Amino acid sequence: MKALITAGGQGTRLRPITYTINKHLFPIANKPMLFHALEKVAKAGIKDIAININEGDKELPAVVGEGKQFGVKITYIEQKGGPLGLAHIIANAKKWIGREDLLFYLGDNIVAGDLKSLIDKFYREKLDCLLTLSRVRDPERFGVPAIKKGRITAVEEKPQKPKSSFAVTGIYLYRPAILEAVNNIKPSSRGEYEISDAHSYLIKKGYRVGYEEITGWWKDTGKPEDLLEGNGLILSALRQSEIPFKKLESGWRIEGAVEIGRGTKLKGEIVIRGPVVIGSNCLLEDACIDPYTSIGDGVVIKKTEISHSIICEGTQILECGVRIVDSLLGKNSVVKAEDATLPSGHKLVIGDNAQVEL
Ligand code: G1P
Repeated sequence: MKALITAGGQGTRLRPITYTINKHLFPIANKPMLFHALEKVAKAGIKDIAININEGDKELPAVVGEGKQFGVKITYIEQKGGPLGLAHIIANAKKWIGREDLLFYLGDNIVAGDLKSLIDKFYREKLDCLLTLSRVRDPERFGVPAIKKGRITAVEEKPQKPKSSFAVTGIYLYRPAILEAVNNIKPSSRGEYEISDAHSYLIKKGYRVGYEEITGWWKDTGKPEDLLEGNGLILSALRQSEIPFKKLESGWRIEGAVEIGRGTKLKGEIVIRGPVVIGSNCLLEDACIDPYTSIGDGVVIKKTEISHSIICEGTQILECGVRIVDSLLGKNSVVKAEDATLPSGHKLVIGDNAQVEL
């Protein structure tokens, strides 16, 4: 079995973050989002992986490399003709797929648990297609299956009146029949070759389409709180690890699953309550870091409390005197206490499409 992972698109809903970074490289628990997908796929024993990228994208291959660090071989496939839908991504990779079975994985989806049991089920039940489903509050934002007597009878893309409360998640298993399907569907009203139409085609043609309900699924849907939820999902699986200090000072309280990188220094009164990851070469002084927070390399935090947030590398948070919650700070930002000089008030230098709550 080969795996095809998607990493294209513009990430417009995640601006301003995506002005400077492909969303698939945005750090979730201090690792590019895409690395979580690659690790999952590698762990399931799949060694031959292709990543679908935007035409001309040089950044992503440079960051992700050839796959050695994951113990796999990575091929990059540019989506010729632009973003024409998920079924088009498969059609575009036809030559690379050949006659192999395929795990198709949307690089902006994160799942808890491993893929092995899904692959086992796919082969055990001799399926042509295995869809993974997750119960959601807002199925109209997803591909939604209609299920009768334990069988999927059709899949509708973003239906106004969903026929179930399930979303088809971004992890799919296929036999080569999927190539026939993606070549026999027409673009939808939004001009895309929809993966849901390919699934409905398989069902209509009598191919065996099965499903498995999964829990612990997160899809990047574009808002900062979505990224924070994905971050939380990954952090909840964090295990307690060794902390790189010879001894803990009397003013430090470090509880739960906490990972701290090399060269990071703690000073003064410190409270860290996991799950929390802190990168290397950071400085934390009189700081409290509460659960579900990821702090990138080289971050400085002084006299501030932070909870349920993602703080990217090189950022400085200095003597804020307020508690920072549910926040997402891009690289090299500065958040600090007001200067004593007049005029008093909050002084902001903020890029396009940013959001601030004062
Ligand atoms: C895509 C698929 C949809 C699926 C979703 C899962 O939606 O078209 O069927 O439920 O991924 O992540 P999109 O990301 O294009 O909104």
